[in-house]
Parts: sequence; C-alpha cells; structure tokens
Amino acid sequence: NFPKTVKIVEVSPRDGLQNEKQFVPTETKINLINKLSESGLKVVESTSFVSPKAIPQMADAVEVLKGINRIEGVSYPVLVPNVKGMETALKCNVEEIAVFGAASEAFTQKNIKCSIEESLKRFSDVIQMAKENQIRVRGYVSCVMGCPYEGEIDPQNVQLVAQIMKDMGCYEISLGDTIGIGTPGIKFFQIILLAEKTEILFNTVKLERGMLAAHFHNTYDRAIQNLVVALGVNIIVQISIQNGISVIDSSVAGIGGCPYAKGASGNVATEDVLFLLDLLGIEHGVDVHKLCQVGDYISKELNRDNLAGVSSKDFEK
Ligand code: HMG
Ligand code: MG
Repeated sequence: NFPKTVKIVEVSPRDGLQNEKQFVPTETKINLINKLSESGLKVVESTSFVSPKAIPQMADAVEVLKGINRIEGVSYPVLVPNVKGMETALKCNVEEIAVFGAASEAFTQKNIKCSIEESLKRFSDVIQMAKENQIRVRGYVSCVMGCPYEGEIDPQNVQLVAQIMKDMGCYEISLGDTIGIGTPGIKFFQIILLAEKTEILFNTVKLERGMLAAHFHNTYDRAIQNLVVALGVNIIVQISIQNGISVIDSSVAGIGGCPYAKGASGNVATEDVLFLLDLLGIEHGVDVHKLCQVGDYISKELNRDNLAGVSSKDFEK
C-alpha cells in the first residue's frame, strides 16, 4: 500500500541553513540551489522572506532568488510570514510560497510572535494576495508530535490548524515534527500492534493523503522509521488499508534545524530518503549520486560532518 511515486521537497537551502551561526555566503546558497535543481529534484525551497532580526541567515533572500538559474519545471518556494514578506515575494516573481504556523501556542509566539489565531489571520491576508497573483501556497504546521515549550500536543489541534489552512487555499500541508520526537510504534503485517505518535497523528489528520507532506527532523534517529509509517499509514483498529502520504520534506546531508526549537537537529537526509524509496520500489526522479555530491559540497562549505548514511563513496566501487 505504498504510493508509486513520491515528491521530495528539498528544504536544505532554507531549513538547512537558517540555523547556521556563521553567515553562509550568498554565492554558496545560490550554488547549493542550482546543484540541487540539477539533480532532478522538482521542489527546492530556497529561502525565507522573514525579519532579518529573527533569522539573520536569510537576510540575503532577495539576492539569492535573483542569482539562481530557474530550471523549467522546478519550483522554488520561499517562506512568507506576513504581508511585508509577501510584498517582497511579489517583487521577486516567486511562483510558490509557504506560510508556516503551528499547533502549539507557545511555539507560535516564539517563532512568529503572535497567537495561533492571529497567525491564521495573517496567513489569510497573505494567501489572498497569493491568489490574486496566481501563486501557489503551501502550509506548514509545526510541532505536530510535541512542542519544545508546551510538551504534548493534541493531534486534534494539528487537524484543526491543518484544516483551516487547507480551507484558506493551501494546496499542500506539511506536518512538521520540529523536534524529531515522533515514534513509529510496532506493526505486524500492516496491523498496528502498538500505535505511537506517528500513527496516531496520521490517523487523526483527516485531509486527503495526496495533499499531506511529512516533514521529519532526525533528532533521535527515528525519522526514517517514522517515514515508513507515514508512507504506508493504516487506520488503527480497522484492518482497512489506506495509501500513505506521497510528499516528503528532506534536507541534503541532513543539515538544518529551527532556531526557535532548541535541540532540534537537522531534517532527515535526502540521500537516506532516496535510499528508502529505492528499497521500497517507489519512484522519485532524483539522481542519487549527483545528490550525494551536493551533500559533500555543502558539508565542506559549512565545515560539518555529512549526516547522511548514504554517501557518494557508495557509488565509487
Ligand atoms: P515582529 O517583531 O512581531 O514583526 O516579528 P514586526 O511586524 O513588529 O516587525 C519587526 C521588524 O521586522 C520591523 O523592522 C519589520 O520591518 C521587520 P524594524 O522596523 O524593526 O527595522 N519585518 C520584516 N522584515 C523583512 N521581511 C518580513 C518582515 N516582517 C517584519 N517579512 C515576524 C514577526 C513574523 C516578522 C518574525 O517573528 C519573523 O520573521 N519570524 C520568522 C521566524 C522563522 O523564520 N522561523 C524559522 C522557520 S519555521 C521552521 O523552521 C519550522 C519548519 O521547518 C517546519 C518544522 O520543522 O516544523 C517550517
Ligand atoms: Mg523544519
């Protein structure tokens, strides 16, 4: 019951870099985006039009977008928190944006300095402007498995926020396990013996599977297991089987994290997601070897260990 194809939303230029302490040169960001889009990825989330005081690393967002080679058929979404960000996005001819909310009041306050209710009003204004300009809108819901400030998050709250974002006009909703605390539970021949956070969440969120994305951070090395669950999600108790999600957010070399979620490590590495998809016989359209080389490139530029399990050396036998 796995999907036949999966769309990867590569988030490294945004989620991967936003938490880097040292300013990453604009040219490096542009190179990264170009290399990623040359590897066959169809969505490369490129930057954020946010306050440079909140996220200094994204202060060069306009220059980054101006500098990249836009390949036909590749989407380069950018994060937009408010009307001010949307005005900049319009000047840069973006074709897709992402609004980002959360199922946690405390995280919303820390991250975008307002309540959930106020955030949804802001998104509504942003989405209105996007619609008037034929711009696609993706919606993020963060802290779907739990919050670094509030602890437990009721999956019903995730459902509520996700549904509102969908009704406002988001074409896709990405469920963010911001601090990587999802747990996969135990299955036996597709029957869930022990349902844990990831199953419970995906069974509580009632949106069509085709419009859901899984955005897992790998803090406790469980992102791949959680993805297996999200790809083949079942309905608890009932034996009926339902196709899982078919959109996965990931970051080359596993770079990343959110400055407002202390302890959150990088996203699941794109290389490892592709390896999993190949194992399951799911199409993804990405040249894995090329992608591994992009992971080597950015790890070297950032002077960091490459966190992906699969590496370009695996192709040099
Ligand atoms: P605020 O301080 O309430 O905003 O911040 P404000 O409207 O009072 O403005 C304050 C200053 O920011 C002003 O400048 C504005 O002009 C400026 P000043 O007059 O002081 O010089 N400003 C902006 N500048 C550029 N672009 C803008 C913009 N808006 C205001 N769009 C605000 C509210 C939302 C702006 C701020 O908190 C912010 O930018 N937050 C962004 C936080 C962020 O990017 N977090 C990381 C992304 S979320 C994430 O990583 C999770 C995710 O990956 C999913 C997951 O893992 O779960 C998506
Ligand atoms: Mg994230």
